[in-house]
Amino acid sequence: MTTTAAAPVVVATGLHVRYGTTQVLADTNLTVEAGAELAVTGRSGSGKTTLLLVLAGLLPPERGTVRWPGLDPAPVRRRGEIGLVFQAPSLLPELTAAQNVALPLRLRGSTVEAAGAATRAALGTVGLLDAADALPAQLSGGMQQRVAIARVLAGTPRLVLADEPTGALDRDSAFAVLAALRDSVTATGGALVVATHDDELAGLLAGRAVIDEGRLRSGARS
Ligand SMILES: Nc1ncnc2c1ncn2[C@@H]1O[C@H](COP(=O)(O)OP(=O)(O)O)[C@@H](O)[C@H]1O
Ligand SMILES: [Mg+2]
Repeated sequence: MTTTAAAPVVVATGLHVRYGTTQVLADTNLTVEAGAELAVTGRSGSGKTTLLLVLAGLLPPERGTVRWPGLDPAPVRRRGEIGLVFQAPSLLPELTAAQNVALPLRLRGSTVEAAGAATRAALGTVGLLDAADALPAQLSGGMQQRVAIARVLAGTPRLVLADEPTGALDRDSAFAVLAALRDSVTATGGALVVATHDDELAGLLAGRAVIDEGRLRSGARS
């Protein structure tokens, strides 16, 4: 429960997305309010990744609109307020774990010192401080995913969109990562959207929606 007024962070209205002749989203509506945490479930291929890309502003819908009333109106600064955890590892292979986490902060103007402090804090949160100087190839898939999550946490985004963030993790790590993402958006007063086909993980989030036949509906917890 939050005591702050529920202001929308992102509002999607009447989304239609198709790839060629494959209609993926059909008149999909979604409002995610500040303080909300939402699991988006649905079978493989139902459109979870597509929805997150649209909510991130990375994929323009064929029809419909996405607005971010809770974020900076300037697209470049808004982009910095949206943290996207991709399904596949997305680290730069020639950079160490710490450099991967620090790079977006440096690109956004943080000093070396500030970026370093945020990087250490974020790597500590995901339990990888000891791996700060390792290259991605020296880390397991699960560790690489935790570095990618640390990179998102370090940016203190107000909207976190996580696409199957725990697929490569064991149960304990998965729950720890979910807790870290939740703590992060609680601290920023933002919102968390997690796409997952894992019912147990989805059940840990306060809100739930299911994509079915291109439509998003509120789902009762199973
Ligand atoms: N870039 C693309 N080009 C063509 N078809 C795509 C593309 N991305 C996804 N699809 C198709 O769109 C549907 C939804 O995909 P996706 O959003 O990745 O679903 P989910 O994340 O729920 O598995 C699937 O049928 C998938 O094959
Ligand atoms: Mg997907």
